[in-house]
Amino acid sequence: MKKISILGSTGSIGTQALDIISKNRDKFTVKALTCGKRVEVLTKQIEAFNPDLVCVEEERDAIKLKKRFRRLEVLWGESGLKEVASKAECDILLNSLVGMRGLVPTYEAIKSGKNIALANKETLVTGGKFIIDEAKKNGVKILPVDSEHSAIFQALQGNSEKDIKRIYLTASGGPFRGYTLKELEGVTLEQALRHPNWSMGSKITIDSATMMNKGLEVIEARWLFDIEPEYIDVIVHKESIIHSMVEYKDHSIIAQLGAPDMRVPISYALTYPERIRNDVPTVDFFSLGSLTFEKADTKVFRCLDLAYEAIKKGKSYPVVLNAANEVLVQQFIEGKISFIDIQRTIERVMEEHVAVNIIGLSDILSIDQEIRGKLE
Ligand SMILES: NC(=O)c1ccc[n+]([C@@H]2O[C@H](COP(=O)([O-])OP(=O)(O)OC[C@H]3O[C@@H](n4cnc5c(N)ncnc54)[C@H](OP(=O)(O)O)[C@@H]3O)[C@@H](O)[C@H]2O)c1
Repeated sequence: MKKISILGSTGSIGTQALDIISKNRDKFTVKALTCGKRVEVLTKQIEAFNPDLVCVEEERDAIKLKKRFRRLEVLWGESGLKEVASKAECDILLNSLVGMRGLVPTYEAIKSGKNIALANKETLVTGGKFIIDEAKKNGVKILPVDSEHSAIFQALQGNSEKDIKRIYLTASGGPFRGYTLKELEGVTLEQALRHPNWSMGSKITIDSATMMNKGLEVIEARWLFDIEPEYIDVIVHKESIIHSMVEYKDHSIIAQLGAPDMRVPISYALTYPERIRNDVPTVDFFSLGSLTFEKADTKVFRCLDLAYEAIKKGKSYPVVLNAANEVLVQQFIEGKISFIDIQRTIERVMEEHVAVNIIGLSDILSIDQEIRGKLE
């Protein structure tokens, strides 16, 4: 039995992970679960999976849960999340929190020697080298959950990172693939939330529409696979069947394919190096007919270029890119700014930023706060 703890168990990744666990009760047991405000969902998860430890965002929700489940340890707030990450008893901690709030818990889990299934891409976008070095120092595995990084990780099995020539990250292109800049001006929240292939949380869905998601993935791949951004290419592949590819120095290209269903990469991260059965549909090549590939239009989707620029310039730039993006996506969701304002404002914030060296966690957190303070 593998002991699993999940940070962000009520979200899109968290609930899909629990779906896998519920269908494989002989393989997994759940030790800790956390959520933000969706406490009703967490309550059902507590009843179904019987964890020892949970954490919620607000103290008043923690008090209510404690009254209802007397045996359960209930924590709350950021300090509670940190405590769960460090003390939850588990073989693998799935970090499926959304946003930069995932960074500190990842760090705490690493320090306590836990292997991590990492969905929270903002951890490596902001923590980058610092997190990878800490993981190495503590002998901790970081198993990718993002479908593209899982594809690369799978294509790497039996091969060596030093033989990689190039990585191809595939992108669906999102709901606005083929749009002009002018057409992007008028798009609505409802349109941006309508992803053609994937069903995900709202932040990543908007990131997919701006193509910032692919930019964040380029940065994540840079650190996960120790490869310079010059050797990471993005290919728009609207069918989302090829989840990413690795080209080796002998020009062999190994790709991982499958239906666009996150339960596949989540399962692989939880059971690696083994695979388990699931009820995900198999790819029907004959009904698909063909697979297509296009270049990303970075004149229209500026966020992708801005992410490349941030990782190439290094230092504090990726933290700035991420903080600005998180604030602006939230403002777009709340109807305070237009869709195109997201990329325009990130570009301005990056131009104005004077780079700072990142040595430790406190540098990352203070740059993040500085940028949020300017935009909020
Ligand atoms: N969804 C996907 O298919 C997918 C694919 C690849 C990578 N990812 C990455 O995985 C991560 C999670 O994505 P998601 O789509 O699953 O996000 P999501 O559906 O928005 O779920 C986020 C989780 O974080 C919790 N949370 C939010 N704010 C919190 C706070 N202030 N304190 C404590 N917990 C809080 C949420 O709790 P509540 O439910 O209570 O709000 C929820 O459990 C992201 O980094 C995303 O980029 C997702």
